[in-house]
Amino acid sequence: MRVVAVFNQKGGVGKTTTALNLVAALACRGARPLAVDLDPQAHLTQILGGEQRLAEESVFSFFARQRPLAEITRDLDSGMRLIPGHLETAKLDSMLGKSMQVITRLRQALQAPSEKGHPVLIDCCPLLGVLSLNAVFACDLLLIPVSADFLALRGAQQVERTLDALEPVFKRRLPRRYLLTRYDRRRRMSGEIEERMRAHFRAGEICINKIAENVSLAESPAYQQNIFDYAPRSTGARDYAALLEELYGS
Ligand SMILES: Nc1ncnc2c1ncn2[C@@H]1O[C@H](COP(=O)(O)OP(=O)(O)O)[C@@H](O)[C@H]1O
Ligand SMILES: [Mg+2]
Repeated sequence: MRVVAVFNQKGGVGKTTTALNLVAALACRGARPLAVDLDPQAHLTQILGGEQRLAEESVFSFFARQRPLAEITRDLDSGMRLIPGHLETAKLDSMLGKSMQVITRLRQALQAPSEKGHPVLIDCCPLLGVLSLNAVFACDLLLIPVSADFLALRGAQQVERTLDALEPVFKRRLPRRYLLTRYDRRRRMSGEIEERMRAHFRAGEICINKIAENVSLAESPAYQQNIFDYAPRSTGARDYAALLEELYGS
């Protein structure tokens, strides 16, 4: 499993947190992972890459001007690489439409020999537009965070319906995993959402590990850090390390 896209049709569920910390954990293993920021809000880029740059140096120019990925990929510390996002990408839906050629563009590019072998993490926005469709078509696994609340569960159910609708195109069941995030065992709702997830989704498609509510996970982006640098002994670091093992093996 080389390309993982993190998606839910709801915001604030932990997509960026999950993409960030899985990429960081992969980098700790020396895997030279590539993070692709497909959210116009570009939070992942801000956390990983710092300062804002021009749209031309972001994934916008890959989609709008067919610029090769290699030209916009930034090398970061500790072996991570980033294809930055940009606010301009919000315009791509009206610029490009949703033809098959457009929505498979990222998949084509990630299959280039230069990209072979490296793990890729794609951070999506909550809308099912041209960018998220590119992520769905490019990925080997769709990872769907569900923060322990009802709207997040509804967003995940929307994703399930979307994937069902796309199944005739893929001609197979697209691999997916639902990940319970922001779990707080003192809150009854967390347990209720967990039960509903079990009722709604196939057992093998729910991650065994869950991500607990953890203050260090909420704090670390303010310092432009991942959880392993910011608080390596936190429950957040432990949860994401366990998730890495579950998804990628040891
Ligand atoms: N397990 C967690 N514990 C505490 N805060 C979290 C956790 N996961 C995410 N957050 C915080 O919740 C907010 C939304 O998370 P984020 O990853 O940005 O969601 P999304 O990308 O889905 O919009 C952020 O402020 C983030 O720091
Ligand atoms: Mg996000």
